[in-house]
Amino acid sequence: MVERAGRVEGKTAIVTGAGSTPGPGIGTGKATAVVLAREGASVLLVDLHPERAEETRKMIEEEGGKAEVFAADVTKAADCEAMVGAAVDAFGGVDILVNNIGLAALGTVVDTSEQDWDRSFDINLRTAFLASKYAVPVMAAKGAGSIVNVSSISALRGDGTVAYSAAKGGLIAMTVDMAYSHGRQGIRVNAVAPGHITTPMVLSVSAPGPRAEFMNTLRSEAGLLGTPGTGWDVGWAAAFLAGDEARWITGVTLPVESGVLSVTPLMMAPHLRGVPEPAE
Ligand SMILES: NC(=O)c1ccc[n+]([C@@H]2O[C@H](COP(=O)([O-])OP(=O)(O)OC[C@H]3O[C@@H](n4cnc5c(N)ncnc54)[C@H](O)[C@@H]3O)[C@@H](O)[C@H]2O)c1
Repeated sequence: MVERAGRVEGKTAIVTGAGSTPGPGIGTGKATAVVLAREGASVLLVDLHPERAEETRKMIEEEGGKAEVFAADVTKAADCEAMVGAAVDAFGGVDILVNNIGLAALGTVVDTSEQDWDRSFDINLRTAFLASKYAVPVMAAKGAGSIVNVSSISALRGDGTVAYSAAKGGLIAMTVDMAYSHGRQGIRVNAVAPGHITTPMVLSVSAPGPRAEFMNTLRSEAGLLGTPGTGWDVGWAAAFLAGDEARWITGVTLPVESGVLSVTPLMMAPHLRGVPEPAE
């Protein structure tokens, strides 16, 4: 058993992409699900790969929490409708929805194919649209609910991932519009924008070796704190926005990025390259 503050005691939550790419560390969806369960929520763990969500369930149950696994492709409307139905059947409702699914893809407007563009919008934006489409009416019927969308700092700063950045930017726009449309139904809608965190998905992109180590060092050092961020950092932020402590917060995007949005590249560049400052 772990110590709980009961921030979301008695609430029910759906987390999409609640499994984690295999490997060291923890994904944002898995961490969010575990934090929500620690804080008292019953969590429906939704993933395309149910065996990954089973790992999350094991972790939650070992800590004395409550969770169920639901296998779904969240890009499909029928799966999303069934997912919300499963949460209602298992736990009696949906108080919290965390739209966590996403995948980055490198590319400019010139070299991104139409297929990759559409795929990025399906994974990063359509999933949140469809999950919300079916969860919002259940929340509205109760007059209360909280939705957290997992965006990215790629939506706010250029980094050569045009389809991903545009889709994650769309997610921020969708957050604001949903907050406008559903506030009077008692539903809050917020987003988190993770920075260069280290998750198993990120680590799986490059083979272990000096280049991967170099990239990980760059990712950690890019922030003002100079320390690596993890899925847990996003999980705690998402759980805060999901719970009643954030009862008067809606329509915002909370960066979780060690301050990379607060610094000009000019000021960080010499530090990153280790260039010594010349003497006076
Ligand atoms: N890792 C980073 O540096 C970083 C930075 C900014 C934002 N993010 C965002 O954080 C989120 C999670 O990232 P992660 O690194 O933890 O990812 P991850 O790939 O480890 O976890 C996501 C889970 O989603 C599942 N999934 C994928 N497509 C699905 C679908 N169609 N239906 C159901 N489940 C599906 C996968 O099986 C996986 O278990 C994403 O939205 C990502 O864009 C990550």
